[in-house]
Amino acid sequence: MLELDDIQHFLLTRPPAKAAHYAFGTFRDASQGRRWLAGLIEKVGCGTSASLSGPPDSRWVTIAFTYNGLRALGVDDASLATFPEEFRQGMAARAAILGDTGTNHPDHWLGGLASPELHAIIILFARDVDERKRCVTEYQQYAAAFPGVEALSTLEIEATPPFDYAHDHFGYRDRLSQPAIEGTGDMPTPGSGAPLKPGEFFLGYTDEDGVIVPLPRPEILSRNGSFLAYRRLEEHVGRFRQFLKQNGDTHEEQELVAAKLMGRWRSGAPLVLAPKKDDPQLGADPQRNNDFNYARMDPHGYAVPLGSHMRRMNPRDTDSNISRRRMKARRTTERTAASRPSSDARVSSGSSSSRRTCGRTTSPSTSLVTNTIPSSALRTARSNSRSRTGRFGNASSGCRRSPPSKAARISSFQA
Ligand code: HEM
Repeated sequence: MLELDDIQHFLLTRPPAKAAHYAFGTFRDASQGRRWLAGLIEKVGCGTSASLSGPPDSRWVTIAFTYNGLRALGVDDASLATFPEEFRQGMAARAAILGDTGTNHPDHWLGGLASPELHAIIILFARDVDERKRCVTEYQQYAAAFPGVEALSTLEIEATPPFDYAHDHFGYRDRLSQPAIEGTGDMPTPGSGAPLKPGEFFLGYTDEDGVIVPLPRPEILSRNGSFLAYRRLEEHVGRFRQFLKQNGDTHEEQELVAAKLMGRWRSGAPLVLAPKKDDPQLGADPQRNNDFNYARMDPHGYAVPLGSHMRRMNPRDTDSNISRRRMKARRTTERTAASRPSSDARVSSGSSSSRRTCGRTTSPSTSLVTNTIPSSALRTARSNSRSRTGRFGNASSGCRRSPPSKAARISSFQA
């Protein structure tokens, strides 16, 4: 039985947020940091508070800590040593293993993300921009009492219209293929496979191998927590469109190139089921748009190239042990000056998806990928593509509505 009242909502559901505020914090003073956390604890949503089935809340708060953050809050060395090595090292130190070289080198990471001073990530999702403003103002008033807790940087995020379906900066329909987790009430869409054991995502539960991974100690630091990878990506949408134009003479050809790169048409229709022509109705139908396999339906990659994004990220039934290699993604997009409509944007607006956010060829848009990483990924120290997605933090438990004791409440936030 999942302890939903102790698992952060972020790991369980996607709130219908149109605005977000990310704060990257550092603790200059351990005792102030702990008091700051104690006061925030009631703000963090959990599985039972985040209205998974009822009317939606208006704002959702998530907190995750780095290894350095736990240390800065006063977690002792014996406890810190029980965390997985990859988490202890941190992502910047592992850049060479993860392929973060050249322009992706930590030297170029923005907002202090490569700094050992990065201790915590606080993520606010808000119903809309006004609600975000209200929450940020309220938070700033609260945080003023804790000068020993500083923000290294912040990031404001806004969804780009239209808001009736999820799509990324390049115009692809998103959120189609996500694993369901046993015990959360998630219903997998056809083709998505059976719900996965909760131990693939939450610490303290049985995983797909029937094992409960040993928890970092003390348990209150880790039980019901998860490992979070945070990654900020620069997306050159204009260059992407140029590439399509260079490789396709007609609009139809360009859309086919875009589909072959992804494995789906921008409408979301999978190439396995619609190999020649887009089928927007199929793309929008959750009962059909993920209902395919590769081994029987496209073994050689004639429809979905073996190197397409989707097939590399999830080779489905053409690889083994896939159920141990899934993740939950929470992608958000940044609306920058570069994301305003422009003539370039209009040129490529012919596809069924309308997120044409970046008009200038040289101006990047930004997307945030925040993924939960299966504990098995850390345990086996694979340096596969999933590990590339971010900086590890620990999305702690920390939302118990009936707090045990003050000390325990603070501790549960620390993980
Ligand atoms: C420029 C950045 C990226 C863009 C624009 C992008 C876009 C997409 C799109 C449109 C889909 C298809 C929708 C879906 O199946 O839900 C998808 C699927 C997926 N992406 Fe990405 N993605 C990006 C980066 C990443 C990264 C960094 C990872 C993780 C390492 C990742 C992992 C996945 C996975 C696991 C799937 C599901 C594949 C499946 O189950 O068939 N993506 N991506």
